[in-house]
Amino acid sequence: MQTPHHNDVLARVEAVRTVIQEAGALALSWFGRLSTLNVETKASGQDAVSLADREVEQFLRARLSSTLPQDGFLGEEYGLSEGSSGFTWVIDPIDGTSCFIHGIRNWCIAIALVRDNRTLAGLVFDPNADEMFSAVVGEGATLNGQPISVDLATDLQHGFTSVGASGRVTPDQIAVFIRQLLEAGGMFVRSGSGALSLAHVACGRLAAYYEPHMNAWDCLAAQCIIREAGGWANDVLVEGSLLGGAPVVGCAPQIREQLLTLIETSNTEATA
Ligand code: IPD
Ligand code: CA
Ligand code: CA
Repeated sequence: MQTPHHNDVLARVEAVRTVIQEAGALALSWFGRLSTLNVETKASGQDAVSLADREVEQFLRARLSSTLPQDGFLGEEYGLSEGSSGFTWVIDPIDGTSCFIHGIRNWCIAIALVRDNRTLAGLVFDPNADEMFSAVVGEGATLNGQPISVDLATDLQHGFTSVGASGRVTPDQIAVFIRQLLEAGGMFVRSGSGALSLAHVACGRLAAYYEPHMNAWDCLAAQCIIREAGGWANDVLVEGSLLGGAPVVGCAPQIREQLLTLIETSNTEATA
């Protein structure tokens, strides 16, 4: 259903579409000369940030704020800047940084538009595949302009479930879930880019995505795309918060019940 701000959202999404493509070209230019890229670790060796992450976020903030100076921004690398329009752009300049710095093509740029604690639009751009996933609430979801749908014929036993992991949760929360998924006849994959994996749920390549904790910039855009593609995604802004994040689930709707049961039973076992 369309929101009262529908036309404002549509205009903003059109403005950001070319900006995110230009940001993709900037990221790709670094991806083509990784030996010169400055990389630092954050919380651990598996949690890195590079000059490319910082430059891409600065580029997105500069370009968007010159067009939409009243809007707020929350980016992974530079935090929250409050705006006055009521709209906030939630930006992950490179999702899949670990893949990026190791020369693996599983990374993307993700941008969500939030207002009144609700995600109203999302864009996920994969520069390597030249694939732009996008959605506006009430308008459906598209991949390079063509409508997309989750796979309404799959189930946990036939489709892939992508599982995300990070140092923000215990190893058991991941390991027990994967074991229970395998015992149920399912199969896991992990690409290293949660945002891109969620977008692949939206277009039916993956059946489901689960990660025990993600931040808003990792997931809001692609979860919006999943909902508009006919899928189900939990509400991180209600279960958690814009700054704190929450567990993240996204799937084809017929998988929801079985997946949520698996998550619950694996959490019970992991925390026993
Ligand atoms: C990470 C990726 C990863 C997911 C982590 C995220 P980053 O984001 O999405 O797949 O498992 O939870 O933090 O650090 O590459 O932007
Ligand atoms: Ca991320
Ligand atoms: Ca990132």
